[in-house]
Amino acid sequence: MSSQLRYLQGYEGMVAALLRALPEEEAMARAVGGDYERIGVLEHALLRGLGLGPGARVVDVGCGSGRLALQLARHGELRYLGLDVVPALLDYARRRVGREDFRFEAVDRIAIPAPDSGADFVVFFSVFTHLLHEESYLYLQEAMRVLRPGGKAVFSFLDYDVEGAWGVFEANLAWVRDRTIAGHLNVFLNPRDLRLWARRLGFRVQAIHRGDQPFIAVDAATATAAVPPGTYALGQSVCVLRKPWPRELAGG
Ligand SMILES: C[S@@+](CC[C@H](N)C(=O)[O-])C[C@H]1O[C@@H](n2cnc3c(N)ncnc32)[C@H](O)[C@@H]1O
Repeated sequence: MSSQLRYLQGYEGMVAALLRALPEEEAMARAVGGDYERIGVLEHALLRGLGLGPGARVVDVGCGSGRLALQLARHGELRYLGLDVVPALLDYARRRVGREDFRFEAVDRIAIPAPDSGADFVVFFSVFTHLLHEESYLYLQEAMRVLRPGGKAVFSFLDYDVEGAWGVFEANLAWVRDRTIAGHLNVFLNPRDLRLWARRLGFRVQAIHRGDQPFIAVDAATATAAVPPGTYALGQSVCVLRKPWPRELAGG
């Protein structure tokens, strides 16, 4: 690891420190970026807007403490697999979500433990923000393998084009400049590079939404008391990739 990276802290260490300092519920919310209910509702509504419905098979990579799973669990029929590198987050998610049929599994390398062509959605919310680009790319390669044709890979990313994301970059600058041991890796991506990745990986780009644009429709089915129906921005930008159908590939 380069000397410049010595100020970085792994996710597991960060979660352990939060658990030492805070009550569990607060630590588990902070570990995934806070705003536990609001962001979970928005992630869920976003997926519903992309066609998530009864019976859908969802792989939630970097599921953390269950922010999305808790909202998905409110709606009966879904097959859900949540993956993360931090066992403490998975334990909490399992308890908080309380669905016997939802699977939560630890991973220790860039791989998705699921069969080929069996998933409708593979999602990475606020995950590529913390990985090396090579790791994100390999995860998308895995998503391509496990998605069925027509299935979608959905991920959020930090985007220099969105003013609000600059706060994260300023924090990175402070860590590097002052050499404080402050946090985990935060990386940015941009739509142009994502289009190139998609082409090389064989995905079709369905949409790229800016994080500051309200594009997520929360309806009566996804709303909660704290997050009423309306149209919301996520904060992070969002990329939606689709695995093509064989006929599209045949057509070139
Ligand atoms: C900011 S949190 C987001 C959690 C969740 N997706 C959400 O939106 O609530 C990022 C998560 O990615 C997980 N993570 C970090 N590196 C990972 C990796 N290589 N594979 C899978 N998950 C990873 C972290 O442990 C953490 O739970």
